[in-house]
Amino acid sequence: MMSVRGRSRRPTLCVQNREVNDMNLNIVTIPGDGIGPEIVREACKVLDRVGQVYGHTMNYTEILMGGCSIDKYGVPLTDEALATAKAADAVLLGAVGGNVGNSRWYDVAPNLRPEAGLLAIRKGLNLFANIRPAYLYKELSDACPLKKKIIGDGFDMVIMRELTGGLYFGDRYTKEVGGVTTAVDTLIYNEDEIRRIAVKAFDIAMKRRKSVISVDKANVLDSSRLWRKVVEDVAKDYPEVKLTHMLVDNCAMQLVMNPGQFDVILTENMFGDILSDEASMITGSIGMLSSASLNETKFGMYEPSHGSAPDIAGQDIANPIATILSAAMMLRYSFDLDMEAAAIEAAVQQVLTEGYRTGDIYSDGCMKVGTTQMGDLIAERIIA
Ligand code: IPM
Ligand code: MG
Repeated sequence: MMSVRGRSRRPTLCVQNREVNDMNLNIVTIPGDGIGPEIVREACKVLDRVGQVYGHTMNYTEILMGGCSIDKYGVPLTDEALATAKAADAVLLGAVGGNVGNSRWYDVAPNLRPEAGLLAIRKGLNLFANIRPAYLYKELSDACPLKKKIIGDGFDMVIMRELTGGLYFGDRYTKEVGGVTTAVDTLIYNEDEIRRIAVKAFDIAMKRRKSVISVDKANVLDSSRLWRKVVEDVAKDYPEVKLTHMLVDNCAMQLVMNPGQFDVILTENMFGDILSDEASMITGSIGMLSSASLNETKFGMYEPSHGSAPDIAGQDIANPIATILSAAMMLRYSFDLDMEAAAIEAAVQQVLTEGYRTGDIYSDGCMKVGTTQMGDLIAERIIA
């Protein structure tokens, strides 16, 4: 495994009786569109606080992607921006895109729209493994749309979504066939693409409850039949992990019927896109869901699972927690700073326990706060 590029360690120093290596973290930020800039600002505030408390230096380089890049350069991601991202240790992304059908960014060819920048950076950085944890905080069980008896003791799952293959990246075109307009999208996977994401899923399961539910549509699709075969092959190297196969339509149902049964869900790109939105909603709000997109090295891109929410942009009401938790994932996966990541997660937990809520997770008796204040509260609670 490759070491983190450009990362330098300075001599060991002592912070509150703990020996730490003062590190330089080279982070590219992509604020993007809509609420993106507001939530990335709060995540950087929290990271800066981690830097102060634990003695690390955060170096940020900002690049444009999405609608803001279209406005400035006419394309959603320039080659220079991609090269800058590649040269960093990790990327922190807000969100890209605007109101589809109601914005100048969508009056152009699909490959020039904001989302094309996101797909290009995922592919360009080979970020094939998308990790989306869905965890129900006890404090948010009132915001969960499921009945109490279904919630039970809560749930804690990770969706492992393949991110650089499948329908998203197969050939697509629209043409006239016998005078009828016909659109084609191609769902394509090879065994190597399946194997590498399966290995990541089993590795993560080994550190959790040792269960992988692999989700496919093997009763219909050839790509799913290959998926199942390769996943079974990978499972042989992990005798301690229990592997179960589940059809995607059944999985959609099981998520709202018995979410507690899931530990690691392993699935292809499009199924993962849909199931992760469903999983996020049962945690109370899509504003809580972090994500990491990784390649074979420690390099990763970290972003909330939600979109750019243009309707609430600039009003200081967006929930920054998904982005702040994504920054925690960045510390853990790209920098091996487990203690610092845990400090962010504990600070989020504490703020929720104290009763602070943004509008999306608000319930009676809580204290409603805006984006900036939520960031301040979490940052203040980072301790060594
Ligand atoms: C996501 C988003 C993206 C996706 C869109 C914005 C292209 O929905 O990250 O889940 O479909 O992957
Ligand atoms: Mg999605």
